[in-house]
Amino acid sequence: MDKKKISELIAQLSLEEKASLCSGHDFWHTKEIERLEIPAVMMCDGPHGLRKQVGEGDHLGINVSIETTCYPTAAALAASFDRKVMEKLGTALGRECQAENVAMLLGPGLNMKRSPLCGRNFEYFSEDPYLAGEMGVAYIQSLQAEGISACVKHFAANNQETARMSGSSQMDERTLQEIYLPAFEAAVKKGGTRSVMCAYNAINGIFAAENKELLTDTLRERWGYDGFVVTDWGAVKDRVKGLVAGLDLEMPGGIGVQDDQIVAAVKDGTLDEAVLNKAVTHMLEFVADYQEQRKPETSIDRAANSILSADLAAQCAVLLKNTDNTLPLKEEENIVFIGEFAQRPRYQGAGSSHINVTHAIGALEAAVGKNVTYAQGYDVHSEENDAGLLDEAVNAAKKAEKVVVFAGLPDSFETEGCDRDTLAIPDNQNNLISAVAAVNPNTIIVLHGGAAMELPWLDEVKSVLCVYLGGENIGTATVKLLYGETNPSGKLAETWPIKLADNPSYLNFPGENGIVDYAEGIFIGYRYYDKKQMEVLFPFGYGLSYTSFSYSDLHLDKEAIQDTDILMVNCKIKNTGSVAGREAVQLYVRDEISSVRRPVRELKGFEKVELEPGEEKTITFPLDKRSFAYYETAIHDWFVESGKFFVEIGASSRDIRLSAEVEVTGTIELPMHYTKQSTVGDLMKTAKGRKFMENMMAKRQRHSSEAAADSAQNMGEGSEKMVQKMMIEMPLGALVTYGSMTFEQLDDLLKMLNS
Ligand code: BGC
Repeated sequence: MDKKKISELIAQLSLEEKASLCSGHDFWHTKEIERLEIPAVMMCDGPHGLRKQVGEGDHLGINVSIETTCYPTAAALAASFDRKVMEKLGTALGRECQAENVAMLLGPGLNMKRSPLCGRNFEYFSEDPYLAGEMGVAYIQSLQAEGISACVKHFAANNQETARMSGSSQMDERTLQEIYLPAFEAAVKKGGTRSVMCAYNAINGIFAAENKELLTDTLRERWGYDGFVVTDWGAVKDRVKGLVAGLDLEMPGGIGVQDDQIVAAVKDGTLDEAVLNKAVTHMLEFVADYQEQRKPETSIDRAANSILSADLAAQCAVLLKNTDNTLPLKEEENIVFIGEFAQRPRYQGAGSSHINVTHAIGALEAAVGKNVTYAQGYDVHSEENDAGLLDEAVNAAKKAEKVVVFAGLPDSFETEGCDRDTLAIPDNQNNLISAVAAVNPNTIIVLHGGAAMELPWLDEVKSVLCVYLGGENIGTATVKLLYGETNPSGKLAETWPIKLADNPSYLNFPGENGIVDYAEGIFIGYRYYDKKQMEVLFPFGYGLSYTSFSYSDLHLDKEAIQDTDILMVNCKIKNTGSVAGREAVQLYVRDEISSVRRPVRELKGFEKVELEPGEEKTITFPLDKRSFAYYETAIHDWFVESGKFFVEIGASSRDIRLSAEVEVTGTIELPMHYTKQSTVGDLMKTAKGRKFMENMMAKRQRHSSEAAADSAQNMGEGSEKMVQKMMIEMPLGALVTYGSMTFEQLDDLLKMLNS
């Protein structure tokens, strides 16, 4: 099929054929039209492996799929803070898709981790839109470089599983634009994703599948998207309305009733055939692209991919605590691994992303040949204490030099389709950890799970290593990390609160009767905890290493910029310890004073740097307008308020090591209509207003510098501040009342300001 001749092809298609191309042939394929040599192509889940079903299809991971490699899930991957990790994954997945003749992989998931309870958090990257966007972009670009389309999902504001097919995410414009859309925007503009999957849920009452503002105004017109939009599986409500809103492909297919509705709507004139032609064009372009980039000779080395899975997982694990350098373990130490997860690790989540692996490797298997014994400790299918297992574990712990307890969230606690009930891990695991720690002072915990957990025993143990859900070879990665063959370098892509009630969405998660009020607005994750100056268990961006790093020589290439300039930021990072390591260096921007509510600081750059002991490297971050802007609803666009900003370099969001100032001048004026009720402070918001103020102040100063000095003395301390505040908040009309100008002069002033 020739991409350049798609319009000719469309002219040869009947109305029925065109409508048929807008839904799938079955669960996973598009439709074929043999007489015009339009082939069917296949799409599969994603995102962290290939779930190809050759038999009966389903979207819940119930029926069997081919055996493939399961890589670390998004929750783990984001903690790598490493675009290279994503690139390696995207390339491997792209090759697997080529080998299996799959044109599109359904991923990555770019939704924000609004609450730690979302059942699908393991499939999402972060609570931070910039980090999620950057990780997504690297994945998309490398997957698509192999000729396979990515499909970013679930567009948009799909942040929970409760009422997942019927709920409405209610939020204001700024929140949607600043928090819930930017990762998708990056995927489109920077990543060039070929496909977008619309979410099941509604946004402010309009289902994503028929939301024109989202699918056309934002996606195509603002962001310049030229790929196609597919429904989440079964998300279509009104097919014709969806088509008009910008929805191209309905999945799964095979029933065809909604195709008939399209045909009928064109025939009775309620649907313009041009709308249908546009959707068909998008579909045919996708099929043609795949044909053009097909590499049928691609072969897969499953053993190598399993090693890759372990290598990636080792870059993702986060060392949360390591008192007395209890880790790394030494070969000669006598160690006991306790907990069923050591033998049968939890390495992926349940649902549509579920990968059928041949053999998952747990830490116990990976530790063969080392001085390690094992006790089961708990039954993963139960929350009840098992006295026999507990006794056995405590006895084993007494005899060992160090204990590693493998704990975390079982499958039943965290899955697609339902949200978690609690931040806690099962009671029997908590009890086991406390009992073991009471008899062995060198207790180490390895945590499995897709999001933050409550750790009531944190003070009782020496070390905690979170491996999230790290893919089929997580055991190999874990053993390498525990024994120091690999130095942990992951950092948290989400804040771990002390308790669930601390989370900003707590009062509004998961909503009532399907209505979810995003009342916390832009303050999700660290944006909230920092603003409230709250204690957290572990902050965003936090993670330890077996070595140490020093940060120095922060340098900005300019002291002042316009918001249209690029600011180049450099700093040096040195490995000051005795082992090689990687550091995820984070750049945050902080606005000094703002007329709107803003987070204390926001992530605007990150780099992962690899350093030998004693080695130092310079890293560079470019900052553009978006690094300083907030979304201003008055202009429905990003806006930089002129003033001083701080560029901060940190080892975490709460460990800022370097800071420098830059003066940024915004180049866009906000539209203002001045009235007598506008304040003197409002004058500062426009160039004309500022000019008038400057003249007025200069005049005042000439006439009354002596009088002002006298009155300041009379009024005492704080008077200057009071006068300033009263001036700034004074309505322009009051300038007449206080005799500073006449009514006529005020009218002239308003005319001048508004002209
Ligand atoms: C999920 C999607 C998935 C699709 C196909 C849906 O239920 O929400 O993420 O890609 O099924 O399995």
